[in-house]
Amino acid sequence: MNILVLGSGGREHALAWAVKQNPKCDRLVCAPGNAGMAAIADCVAVDVMDNDAVLALCQAESIDFAIIGAENPLANGVADVLRAAGILTFGPSKAAAELESSKAFTKEICDACNAPTAAYARFTELNAAKAYVTEQGAPIVIKADGLAAGKGVIVAMELQDALNGLDDIFDGAFGDAGAEVVIEEFMDGEEASFFILSDGKNILPMGTAQDHKRAYDGDKGPNTGGMGAYSPAPVMTDAVTQKALDEIIQPTIDEMARRGTPFQGVLFAGFMIKDGQPRLVEYNVRFGDPECQTLMMRLGAQVLDALLACAEERLADAQIHWANDHAVSIVLAAKGYPGSYDKGTEIKALDALPSDSKNMVFHAGTKTDGDRLLAVGGRVLNVTARGDSFKEARDRAYAMVDLINWPEGFHRKDIGWRAL
Ligand code: AMP
Ligand code: GLY
Repeated sequence: MNILVLGSGGREHALAWAVKQNPKCDRLVCAPGNAGMAAIADCVAVDVMDNDAVLALCQAESIDFAIIGAENPLANGVADVLRAAGILTFGPSKAAAELESSKAFTKEICDACNAPTAAYARFTELNAAKAYVTEQGAPIVIKADGLAAGKGVIVAMELQDALNGLDDIFDGAFGDAGAEVVIEEFMDGEEASFFILSDGKNILPMGTAQDHKRAYDGDKGPNTGGMGAYSPAPVMTDAVTQKALDEIIQPTIDEMARRGTPFQGVLFAGFMIKDGQPRLVEYNVRFGDPECQTLMMRLGAQVLDALLACAEERLADAQIHWANDHAVSIVLAAKGYPGSYDKGTEIKALDALPSDSKNMVFHAGTKTDGDRLLAVGGRVLNVTARGDSFKEARDRAYAMVDLINWPEGFHRKDIGWRAL
């Protein structure tokens, strides 16, 4: 079949890499793609936020199966447009994508199905929000309701930080995403992510992971999209996983179906875990980046069968075959990220690196210029490795990082410190 992967990040490169290994994939198209994807697929330029352009591309390229990588096109309804045109699509409808695009909506779903999560209140007016925060006291968590590229959350350890955060949000720091705020109880514990496929009714767990959101070692510095990840997450024991499925995930899927907006795609649940009890922090409606890179490395070609079963509503009969392995992904970012950074610096020595089922460099913000490889984004490369133990995977990944010659880049040296 002809398969499209929509997106241009490390997540999409990893998805494309896994899908390509499956004999069912006859032709792979990535749009818009990056230099890494161009080496394994035909890359076609497209504005991922233009649904009609994405549909026209699918028709022109005779796409049989479209895999949507990121949340913005999903929240924009791309899956609805493709499905309405008869194209098999992996990714939730616009209505179901509200689990990520509105934090207030997710809270409402948790209420309706009694899923454990932080206590909360919603506000559309600054003074009422400030009065509530003052009454509750710190620590407390302030969230812009809508999509804010992972930046719309303020975990305020001091009351003043919470009040300042409210000023910023109502001043329009996150645009329309901040027209409403959700104020939450601060939850203490260890965070982990869980990825579950749902065909609208049945579910199939794909794995757990943990990521590092802060830019610098020791989990210091500004928040980023993620500077590294590892899978599995040790804190997601079998007992915690089962509780999460029974108390949070399946009830959410059931509630979405009951409302007539079934969730079909990958549900990425972020949990706070304390004393063996998971509580929901948030949902995303796509794979995590760079968490996806570790999952793809572990699962390989079977990913395509699972995504197809999900899109064709056959998950009840689908299975994942797990190996007892571990994967680690280290993000190489341009110096200055997540602030401003230079574009167009050259990355050398990538060709000398191994590229196999245990060692992969997934590309994010890269492009080629003749035979030179250039960095053109904030997060640029995801050096990913697999091993029989966490340590083996991590050592392998850092050994590759050491061979890359890119003076204008930086990376964290402590990815997975909790798992060691
Ligand atoms: P979110 O975008 O909702 O995942 O929030 C970003 C980060 O803020 C999470 O990964 C947590 O580290 C933190 N966070 C969000 N909500 C809470 C909460 N209620 N209690 C403690 N930390 C939180
Ligand atoms: N790495 C976090 C995310 O993809 O949202």
